[in-house]
Order: sequence, then C-alpha cells, then structure tokens
Amino acid sequence: MDEFELIAKKSVEETQCECIAIGVFEDALSGNALEVASSMTGGRLKKLVERGEYRGKEFETVTFYTDLKQEKAIVIGLGKEKNFSAEIARKLGAMAWRGAKSFKAKKLAFSILNINLGNVPKESFSQAFSEGFFLAAYRFDKYKTKKQEDGVELKQLAIISDSIEEIGKGLVRGKTIAALQNNARDWINTPASDMPPSKFAEIAKEFGKKYNLKITVFEKEEIERMGMGGVIAVGKGSIQPPKFIVVKYQGLKDGSAAPIVLVGKGVCFDSGGISLKPSEAMETMKGDMAGACAVLATLCAASALKLEINAVGLMPMVENMPDGNAQKPGDIVTHFNKKTSEILNTDAEGRVILADALAYGATLNPKAIIDIATLTGACRIALGNEAIALLGTSAELIEKIKSAGNETFERVWELPLWKEYDEYIKSDVADIKNIGRKGQAGTITGAAYLKHFVSDIPWAHLDIAGVDWNDSDAFYKIKGAEGAGVRLLTRALEKLAEKKK
Ligand code: BES
Ligand code: ZN
Ligand code: ZN
Repeated sequence: MDEFELIAKKSVEETQCECIAIGVFEDALSGNALEVASSMTGGRLKKLVERGEYRGKEFETVTFYTDLKQEKAIVIGLGKEKNFSAEIARKLGAMAWRGAKSFKAKKLAFSILNINLGNVPKESFSQAFSEGFFLAAYRFDKYKTKKQEDGVELKQLAIISDSIEEIGKGLVRGKTIAALQNNARDWINTPASDMPPSKFAEIAKEFGKKYNLKITVFEKEEIERMGMGGVIAVGKGSIQPPKFIVVKYQGLKDGSAAPIVLVGKGVCFDSGGISLKPSEAMETMKGDMAGACAVLATLCAASALKLEINAVGLMPMVENMPDGNAQKPGDIVTHFNKKTSEILNTDAEGRVILADALAYGATLNPKAIIDIATLTGACRIALGNEAIALLGTSAELIEKIKSAGNETFERVWELPLWKEYDEYIKSDVADIKNIGRKGQAGTITGAAYLKHFVSDIPWAHLDIAGVDWNDSDAFYKIKGAEGAGVRLLTRALEKLAEKKK
C-alpha cells in the first residue's frame, strides 16, 4: 500500500487511468445528468437506462468496455440524492476498489464532476471514499503460502474534481487512517501464540519510532512494584509475562499541558483462565487485545495528522490462561489505587487489568480519560454488530464521542451508569467484586467497576465486544478483525483538540 499513488485532477484526460468509475443518483438519471454520466461509458449507460435495465439503486453496479481512452467504465448507483452521506461515500470507495479489482484495472479514476455531494464537504467525501477504498483492500494472507494473485495490481487512484486541493487532502487523511486501522486488523488477526505481550510491545516500539511517539514498556517486576495487582493477577497463569505499555504523543508545544489519556484492553488471549470458556469460537479471543490495538493505531494517526493535542496511551498487556499458578475464583487483588477486588470469575479479566491502567492514568492529571475494550459478551447481545456501547461520567465528553461516532460511522450507543448499579458489584469481603448479577446488565456492571478507578476525571468507556469481529465481508468490512475504534478515537481526539470559539 505504501507505493500506492493518490492524485486529485480536474479532468480524466489529465490522468493516465484506463479505468473510470462514477456514481449516479437514482433520482437524477435523466436529461443532462444522464448524458454526462453516459458520455463516460461511450453512450452505453443511456441505452441501459432507457431499456429500464439500470436504475441507479444504492450500490447497483454495472461495468462496460468502451471505445474511449478510459476503456473500462464502472457505474455505481448512489440511491436517492437526499440520502447521500459520508458513509455512502465510504461504501462507494469500497465498491470502487472491488469493481476496479475485478476489472483488473491498474489505474482507477473516480469522477465526482457529475455528482451533487449535498451537505457533505469535498474533503470529508474524499476522506471517507479513501477510507472505504483502502479498508476494502485489506487481506490477512501472511500465513498463506500461495497469495491470491490475479496478475494485475491496482496502483493508482485519482479523484476527478474541480476542487483538487480539498480532495487531495481528504484522500491522504483517509489513506493514513485506513492504513492504521489495517495495521490494527493485522495485529488482532495474528494468532495469539505469535502475538504475546512481548511481541505487541515490540510492535509498539517499532510504530513509536516511525510515528515519533515516546514509548515506555514496564516489565513484570516494575508492574508489581508499582502496585498494579490486577495486571499481575490476570497474567499469572501464563508463561508470557505481562507488559504495561505507555505511549506519549506530544502535539502541543507545551509538553506538560494536560493530555487526553486513552486506555486499551490488551488481553492477547482470553481463555477465561480457571473460569475456562467453552471451546466453541474460543479462537476469536486472540482478538481480546483489540482495545490496545485501537489505542496504539490512534496515537500513530494523531501524530501523522499532526493533531494539536497531547495524548497518552496506556496498554496493559496480558494473557489470561488456566495454570497451576493462575489466579483462582475467590482471590482478592489490590489495585493501583489500593482498592481491593474479589475475583469471582477469572473470565471477567478485562476490568481487572483496566482498573490499574485507569488509576495510573488518573495520576497524569489528564483532561479526560477514554478507555476502549472488548469487555463483555453482553454488549454483543445488546447491540449486535452495529454499535459500540458508551458509558461515562461526563456529558460533554460523551457528546463529542457520539458525534465522532456518527461522522466516522463507528456509531456509539449510550447506556446508563446510574449509581443504583454500584450495588451489583458490592463484595462481602473486599471493596468490590469483578462480576455483577447473573444475566443482568453485564455491560453496565463492567463500566460500574471501572468507574471506581478514574477519580473525578471526565471519563468515557467504549465496549467494542460487539463490533470488533466481522463474520463476513461487506463493503469495507472484511471477515475477521475489524480494527474497531481507530476512526472513532482519531476523530474524537480531533474534536477534543478543537479550540473553543
Ligand atoms: N473478552 C471477553 C468478552 C468478549 C466476549 C469479547 C465475546 C468479545 C466477544 C471478556 O473478558 C469476558 O469473558 N467477559 C465475560 C464477563 C462475565 C464473566 C461477567 C462475559 O462477557 O461473559
Ligand atoms: Zn474474559
Ligand atoms: Zn476478555
């Protein structure tokens, strides 16, 4: 992807593309608009439309070989003009990628000269298009001895528009974010035995160097000395030692200005521990470090996009395994802020490691803390594959994350965090316990646990357990890890960086 060329031009003639793609609205497929669109297909589109064989319904796609210099043409339906949105642009990017690939195109031009983007700004359009395009291009094939090769490589994407500056900027932003989301997908998809905490720490160092971030990796002895009893307890059953990774991005001249702290759950494999999970679909638990992956990728994006903000990423990395040395139900751990917790189920381990990281984060005097985690199966039951659960203590922070979610189409849905839920996690023998009431409000209980560790700092919790695993390909989603949260958190940081007017 690095050698892929992105360009913005005012006319197709200025490019060397042999393949052109356009979008057409269902309700603007007549008169002059149809003439213009049809001219790109050598007049063939008009014939199809007149015969009623093509109507421009959402993502209805038709391809033509023409006698023009751009001999391959792809026409993609956009549905109704009034429904146009950045998300349609994102899906359009994915469709354009798929169309160009199946057409064996080398250079693709997508023209927006004929489409009315409505209230989607040009830069947002090209960013979303570029995100969809590069996310759809993702393949996890590093373990395949024979790669799926079709002989022709798509090497260039040009967008044709009269505002090439905005379009160019959006294209690069989109590619930057999508490439990092694809990196996160790679880390998550990699089998757990090849991605223990130590390997993830190496990756953090490598990416830290590339993106100019300051990385510190705390080893097991230091984690213990700092008093992170939760990280130690969860990691005890594995021969892979835990790591606590701190990533710093300084986007403000004043390095001491209050940062935003991002915390990501980094369970490299969640077998459940002594409270062992059933074996069905246990392999997906190699993805239980998706939160940490989102945090690392987001800080890289913040740096690449030069966001004017200071941010710190905290990633507690462990493997949750059953073993003679593993923690046992009934054990009591002491967290970083000295609160004690009774472990009644070793499979509710995410909150136990996050608690230490949040309490550590709260000592950095941050403006806000956001954590992201594949925390509860209950989240998938409540919201399915469509939304990230959001809970927190600051209405202002929650609003910003909600709007970032709508813009990036990593949509969030708020659940309540009323004090009545605190009762669910009261323990007989310690300050709190790590599970609530059977079958009741599992996602909220997880957040209620975390709330004990953020002091009075504005805080939001994102549960991505429902969205981080795709069961099939669809537009820019690819079967396997989604790399959820990268677009959302990057946009949220950008909003938090915006100066108040
Ligand atoms: N990692 C899981 C949550 C999960 C489940 C993520 C499915 C993605 C898909 C988490 O550690 C877990 O096991 N949670 C338990 C908590 C319970 C024991 C209170 C759960 O959700 O069942
Ligand atoms: Zn678990
Ligand atoms: Zn887990």
